[in-house]
Amino acid sequence: MRFLLSSLAFAASVYSQSAAFLDPKTGIEFQQHTDATTGLKFGIAVPTTVQSDFIGQIVLPTNGTGYAGISLTPKMVGSLFVLAWPNVDSVVGGLFIGYSAPNVYTNASVSVSPIANGTFVNSTHMSYTFLCTGCITGTSSSFSGSTADISLGFAVGTKSPTNPTSASSATFVYHDGGFGGFGMTLSGSADYPTWAATASGSAAGGSGNATCTNVGTNTTTTVSNSTYDYIVAGAGPAGIIVAQRLTESGKSVLLLEGGKASTYATGGRSTVSWNDTVTQYDVPSMSYYLTTASDTSEYCTDTASQAGCLLGGGTMVNALMFIRPQTADFDDKWPAGWKWNDVSAAAEKLYSRNPGTTLPSKDGKRYDQGAFNAMSNFLKGMGWSHIDAIEQPDSKHEVYSYPPWDIQNGLRAGPVTSYLPLAQASPNFKLSLETKVLRAVRDGSSITGVEVQTSTGARQIINLKAGGKVVLAGGAMSSPRILFNSGIGPKDQISTVQSGCTGVTLPAESDWIDLPVGQNLRDHPIFTLTFNTTSASAANATSMLASQFTNPGQTDIDLFAKASGPLAQSGQRLNFWSSLNSTDGITRFFQGTVNSPSAGTVRAKVYLTHGATSAGVLGITSTGSTQFSTEPLMNTDEDKAAVVEFLDSILNAARNSTILVPSSASATGASLVASYVSGSHFVGTAMMGDSKQNAVVDTDTKVFGTDNLFVVDASIHPDLPTGNTQAIVMVVAEHAAAKILALGSSSNSTAPSITPPFANSTIPVTTPSNTTQPLTPTESSPDAEDDC
Ligand SMILES: Cc1cc2nc3c(=O)[nH]c(=O)nc-3n(C[C@H](O)[C@H](O)[C@H](O)COP(=O)(O)OP(=O)(O)OC[C@H]3O[C@@H](n4cnc5c(N)ncnc54)[C@H](O)[C@@H]3O)c2cc1C
Ligand SMILES: *[C@@H]1O[C@H](CO)[C@@H](O)[C@H](O)[C@H]1NC(C)=O
Ligand SMILES: *[C@@H]1O[C@H](CO)[C@@H](O)[C@H](O)[C@H]1NC(C)=O
Ligand SMILES: *[C@@H]1O[C@H](CO)[C@@H](O)[C@H](O)[C@H]1NC(C)=O
Ligand SMILES: *[C@@H]1O[C@H](CO)[C@@H](O)[C@H](O)[C@H]1NC(C)=O
Ligand SMILES: *[C@@H]1O[C@H](CO)[C@@H](O)[C@H](O)[C@H]1NC(C)=O
Ligand SMILES: *[C@@H]1O[C@H](CO)[C@@H](O)[C@H](O)[C@H]1NC(C)=O
Ligand SMILES: *[C@@H]1O[C@H](CO)[C@@H](O)[C@H](O)[C@H]1NC(C)=O
Ligand SMILES: *[C@@H]1O[C@H](CO)[C@@H](O)[C@H](O)[C@H]1NC(C)=O
Ligand SMILES: *[C@@H]1O[C@H](CO)[C@@H](O)[C@H](O)[C@H]1NC(C)=O
Ligand SMILES: *[C@@H]1O[C@H](CO)[C@@H](O)[C@H](O)[C@H]1NC(C)=O
Ligand SMILES: *[C@@H]1O[C@H](CO)[C@@H](O)[C@H](O)[C@H]1NC(C)=O
Ligand SMILES: *[C@@H]1O[C@H](CO)[C@@H](O)[C@H](O)[C@H]1NC(C)=O
Repeated sequence: MRFLLSSLAFAASVYSQSAAFLDPKTGIEFQQHTDATTGLKFGIAVPTTVQSDFIGQIVLPTNGTGYAGISLTPKMVGSLFVLAWPNVDSVVGGLFIGYSAPNVYTNASVSVSPIANGTFVNSTHMSYTFLCTGCITGTSSSFSGSTADISLGFAVGTKSPTNPTSASSATFVYHDGGFGGFGMTLSGSADYPTWAATASGSAAGGSGNATCTNVGTNTTTTVSNSTYDYIVAGAGPAGIIVAQRLTESGKSVLLLEGGKASTYATGGRSTVSWNDTVTQYDVPSMSYYLTTASDTSEYCTDTASQAGCLLGGGTMVNALMFIRPQTADFDDKWPAGWKWNDVSAAAEKLYSRNPGTTLPSKDGKRYDQGAFNAMSNFLKGMGWSHIDAIEQPDSKHEVYSYPPWDIQNGLRAGPVTSYLPLAQASPNFKLSLETKVLRAVRDGSSITGVEVQTSTGARQIINLKAGGKVVLAGGAMSSPRILFNSGIGPKDQISTVQSGCTGVTLPAESDWIDLPVGQNLRDHPIFTLTFNTTSASAANATSMLASQFTNPGQTDIDLFAKASGPLAQSGQRLNFWSSLNSTDGITRFFQGTVNSPSAGTVRAKVYLTHGATSAGVLGITSTGSTQFSTEPLMNTDEDKAAVVEFLDSILNAARNSTILVPSSASATGASLVASYVSGSHFVGTAMMGDSKQNAVVDTDTKVFGTDNLFVVDASIHPDLPTGNTQAIVMVVAEHAAAKILALGSSSNSTAPSITPPFANSTIPVTTPSNTTQPLTPTESSPDAEDDC
């Protein structure tokens, strides 16, 4: 199950919406909240002195399918949550943690146990009543028992989990029924001990640890009869760019993508209701509404946090911000050979194909400018300057710009349009969709090929030609999994693979390579500031409604067909940047993306970006999902102090403003600093550096201790940029491709074995299905930009 970014933005200001409810079945008196849209009810009962336990009740209208989840904080990443679902004539519930493919939470002192009289299915509803022992953890994974008003989150799915018989076996599909946050009031009762005593069958995570049945033990692996000079794993922006540049060498290149086609031109068919030749990914304005679109299969289900798993990766699900990196983004922390002077030529190569634009509408107009008008006037009043973020990437202090977007010809752009068609015009390039790379096949330090799994579950080895190279480009949330599966990374993570359920063949332990894979995980936290327009400025902040984008009128549909109008814009209306110098001597940068979610309201999503010092750790679960071993965001005092200072500076200015005032009179930096969501801008999990003591890849992007394994994606970035990540990911991929090409495609010394251990394996399997047709090479030079 995935809880999406958009579900987190309400964190700051949910007010209590609960009322007393006496449950006739159990006799328990709850404070109960009802969600008007889904009909989901959640009840909570606590003792007079709240410690670590509570009684909860989840009631969901259902005909026997679906599931409901209650998150113990509104910030769903890193929060404990209780999931319950009907299973034939009973109800199964459990305690989970994790963003996607939730993991049963197994902490010996935290458990849920059902209260039998309140746990049942009838013809119209499911009810799950439970004692949650130890669930008020005293950490950020749950609400705090010390205040009466608490904020929670919910999610409802209309489809039943697969393997629904127990919490440990169930897997969940997207919560398509609805999700959001709500407030409740805790009201202690002296009867609580009596109620709690009716619970029975205590179990961590409902049914204990996941039972781990090794799925690979009876899988037959075949060997492909095709071999390649370069195999690239993952067709996100980095993988597509590096594969296209490698194709220019004339050598054979295989690009493997685990996901499906995306844009209409690549064969994607998730079209919008009002135009059957564009998909939901093609339409720029849909970028703010993808999580509620008809098809949500594009999100990865095996990653620690949100990522795109389809052709184009994050560039197909992101919000199209295309922020050209500033000089400091490279000069502060990248190693020698990767300073701005070194990479600027690569950046120019990228921008010539994929420049980005602040004026996407072909008719030369900007639409829905209320938020821009109000916020730009407010910032101008503070003395900030209006710049063009495409032309002036180094201007990042007290400035604002029209949003720079990766849009081209009125459509979402990016390497899928600006690079992939060029590769597909070459006979030496091949793309295989729905083909997931499990591991690099190793013979000691040399890589002989990859093992893949197709959508049918079939596994196959694809070998390199002599002197060939494998490039991992699965993204910062996924490339570490391929490394762990290849026996590369911290020993504890590889051991989890070894004892886990994924049936991955590891090299002998003596060949494991100990590198800090998963360490140095970084991301941008996002804080939300909400303003009301003043009566004087109200006319300047009228805004289009969400429905005008998801269900547009004919005027806008017609404009879109001419690559114009509001549907050809993404969701932001203004970007701003600034910086401040902290007591630790570090300059920290902030980015804001501003829009108007409703008439009279202006919202700024404020990101702490370059200079942030917080970091986390990415690991792997026994079922092969990546997970946060340590959360990456906001874990240093200096980051917190900087955020408080910056938010206060904006809020204080707004308190005196005649244009915008804070929607909440009591909002302060200190009150908002704990309410952040992920920017989905993950970097650093296979960091580049000079030495294998603190890095995974060298300055050629080659994995230390291997002859011919490379990583080129957001994983290798040792630092966070000032803006959203996709543009810098593309710049780095261009530069990395040049580095790899400079090494040549035939190794002088350690030619990898071309006789793999599977040489006697019988059945050569046909090439994976769902290979996309080459695009027409007549595509000229598409350009695009993008951002979150
Ligand atoms: C919701 C969201 C919004 C965002 N908004 C913005 C934004 O507006 N602007 C911006 O600049 N950035 C934004 N980002 C971040 C940006 O999209 C990413 O930084 C960028 O896409 C990273 O590129 P990448 O090539 O490293 O990896 P990814 O984009 O993650 O691509 C990796 C690809 O590899 C595939 N893959 C993974 N594992 C395997 C495997 N084992 N075998 C085969 N294929 C595999 C995946 O399916 C995917 O296609 C956003 C990200 C998200 C998730
Ligand atoms: C319940 O309703 C859903 C959605 O209407 C439907 O797809 C499903 O078949 C129904 N299930 C049962 C058991 O009736
Ligand atoms: C459960 O319900 C039954 C039937 O109404 C009742 O007899 C029993 O006392 C209830 N048990 C508890 C613990 O409330
Ligand atoms: C089913 O249970 C729910 C929750 O207790 C209750 O509101 C509803 O009336 C019940 N429906 C029937 C048909 O008994
Ligand atoms: C789950 O597994 C962990 C690690 O093996 C173990 O410590 C714990 O006791 C297990 N929990 C249950 C409920 O079996
Ligand atoms: C592998 O296991 C699955 C599930 O138990 C079974 O259906 C399948 O027949 C097995 N395949 C082989 C080759 O044994
Ligand atoms: C409305 O916006 C326009 C364009 O920025 C500006 O000229 C005008 O002063 C604004 N009016 C108010 C009341 O803010
Ligand atoms: C659908 O969008 C495409 C791309 O913009 C455009 O060429 C086409 O005319 C549109 N079709 C309709 C029916 O609007
Ligand atoms: C922060 O320090 C740097 C280096 O001393 C200086 O150039 C910059 O102007 C300072 N920024 C602010 C906002 O004071
Ligand atoms: C806001 O106005 C008050 C009263 O005029 C003044 O004391 C305060 O300094 C002003 N704050 C800011 C941030 O301008
Ligand atoms: C902002 O507007 C909202 C909705 O109209 C209102 O509830 C709130 O009180 C307003 N805030 C201020 C500070 O006026
Ligand atoms: C192979 O050796 C030649 C001559 O020493 C050298 O120029 C070339 O760069 C080497 N190629 C690789 C891939 O190491
Ligand atoms: C690989 O096998 C397929 C299917 O058997 C066959 O059509 C193709 O010609 C073979 N390719 C090579 C290079 O042998």
